[in-house]
Amino acid sequence: MMTPYNVPRVKSGIPGLDDLIQGGFPEGTTILVTGPTGTGKTTFGIQFVYKGAELYNEPGVIVTLEERASDLRREMRSFGWDLRKYEEEGKIAIVDGVSSVVGLPSEEKFVLEDSLNVEGFLRYIYRVVKAINAKRVVIDSVPSIAIRLREEKNIREILLRLNTILLEMGVTTILTTEAEDPKRDKLSRYGVEEFVARGVILLDLVEKDVELKRYILIRKMRETKHSMKKYPFEITEEGVVVYPSGEIY
Ligand SMILES: Nc1ncnc2c1ncn2[C@@H]1O[C@H](COP(=O)(O)OP(=O)(O)OP(=O)(O)O)[C@@H](O)[C@H]1O
Ligand SMILES: [Mg+2]
Repeated sequence: MMTPYNVPRVKSGIPGLDDLIQGGFPEGTTILVTGPTGTGKTTFGIQFVYKGAELYNEPGVIVTLEERASDLRREMRSFGWDLRKYEEEGKIAIVDGVSSVVGLPSEEKFVLEDSLNVEGFLRYIYRVVKAINAKRVVIDSVPSIAIRLREEKNIREILLRLNTILLEMGVTTILTTEAEDPKRDKLSRYGVEEFVARGVILLDLVEKDVELKRYILIRKMRETKHSMKKYPFEITEEGVVVYPSGEIY
């Protein structure tokens, strides 16, 4: 049998997931994580960067545009993740994209100023990635980039430019976005995110008896053989865990 060319893989840090995608995300790609509210998109993205630092010694940048860095640190502690520790070691950098917009003072090292335009935003991310020599990035979320930059009409162009810069830097990136009802409606808020990203992962809920069950679907992953099955996952006290041999009914 011929051995096919294997692209280098980046371990997701999500137990169970890498088995579904030939060992990890293709290195240097942008992966969109989409789904309705409360499905675990933020946790998924932070876990990718946190585990990168903790298990694989890969520095990562967290761009938080939905909650302040201090709130994020506190929330992530409920999974036993100590972001501070890796920030102090220079393995994680958190870019606070919220404080200045809501008019709160920030004591963060990396802060997006209020009046930022697209160029400024892209340049800042570039600088922080270089500053810690990051291999992983999470940007949470696409809708909040658009709203923050007051550029909702041009979101496709912004994402293309962002993606080009990320590819150029060689980082593997998780971008989160929202999809109100991915079964009936579109896969993402603006309907363009999935075209820019090279991989799309859907986190969603399905009703089983009187309970909502979480499932994950690898909707697209370039350079990767993957099934289109829905797999159960849970958010546990250690974060997101996927069950590759489980069933969704
Ligand atoms: N420590 C924990 N242990 C178990 N489950 C938790 C824990 N913390 C949060 N959760 C679950 O994770 C959910 C929130 O996940 P997360 O914030 O990652 O989702 P999201 O998709 O980013 O939501 P949003 O639409 O608000 O951005 C909570 O609603 C809760 O069900
Ligand atoms: Mg979130």
